Amino acid sequence: MSRIAYVNGLYQNMREACVNIEDRGYQFSDGVYEVCEIRGGRLVDMPRHLARLQRSLSELRISMPMPLAALEVVMREVVRRNRVRYGIVYLQITRGVARRDHGFPAATVRPSVVVTARSLSFAKNQATAAKGIAVITVAENRWPRVDIKSVSLLPNVLAKQAARDRGAYEAWYVDPQGYVTEGSSSNAWIVTAQGSVVTRSAESGILSGITRAVLMEILAALQIKLEERPFTAAEAAQAAEAFVTSASQIVMPVVAIDSRPIGDGVPGPISQRLREEFHRFSAIS
Ligand code: PDD
Repeated sequence: MSRIAYVNGLYQNMREACVNIEDRGYQFSDGVYEVCEIRGGRLVDMPRHLARLQRSLSELRISMPMPLAALEVVMREVVRRNRVRYGIVYLQITRGVARRDHGFPAATVRPSVVVTARSLSFAKNQATAAKGIAVITVAENRWPRVDIKSVSLLPNVLAKQAARDRGAYEAWYVDPQGYVTEGSSSNAWIVTAQGSVVTRSAESGILSGITRAVLMEILAALQIKLEERPFTAAEAAQAAEAFVTSASQIVMPVVAIDSRPIGDGVPGPISQRLREEFHRFSAIS
């Protein structure tokens, strides 16, 4: 079955779908995106993803190209046409197509919208979670506006590849003060010896993850103590457990940081429980 993409008003075969070479996403990374998990063919935490999308667009002064309800219809339709039961839907909006010039184009230029969806292997994801993943640490080198979910991801690309080159799965950025900010495509968490779950505040240095926000509500419901504060790479190395969160990984246990085992070097009980509980709490629509 060929994959279908939505591109600026048309549902097209992926092989034929294309955008103009003067799209500002292509030339300037001038755009934003969202990734939403699909479960049972339905969208997980869609309203929160759309709210974050609106915020990212408004921070960059890109206009919303269509009503949110219409965008939601398109996302569902792409999922349906690709027959995705488990996987992700990807949405990208750029400032549109215009002759190359750094400054914004005329207000009449319409933003470009692309939506794709693809299946992932649930079994493979579960197998990865059962083993746990290794992370490496890298120096924070991104711009301060990482709260915007911009398609400008070059530092993230390089960090992820650095992790892969070292046989790891994710890279955690460490700021000049020694604090972990987040992963190249996920939020970072640790569990203390006392059983508190720790993650950095979303006030600065990280993307305000949707999975992170839902997990915070789960922690409250399960009466697990949350400490929203920065933690250093040194503290993480001594932690009882560690894990990352993202729409595609949900809660993914971390078993090694910079080749040193975390806790017993196997997925910890709190990480595993949170992974299991997640979809009891997330909004599926
Ligand atoms: N990444 N931090 C960064 C830098 C991210 O790229 C992501 C998500 C997250 C977690 O956010 P959420 O829980 O809303 O997915 C944190 C997506 C999945 C990606 O780029 O593929």
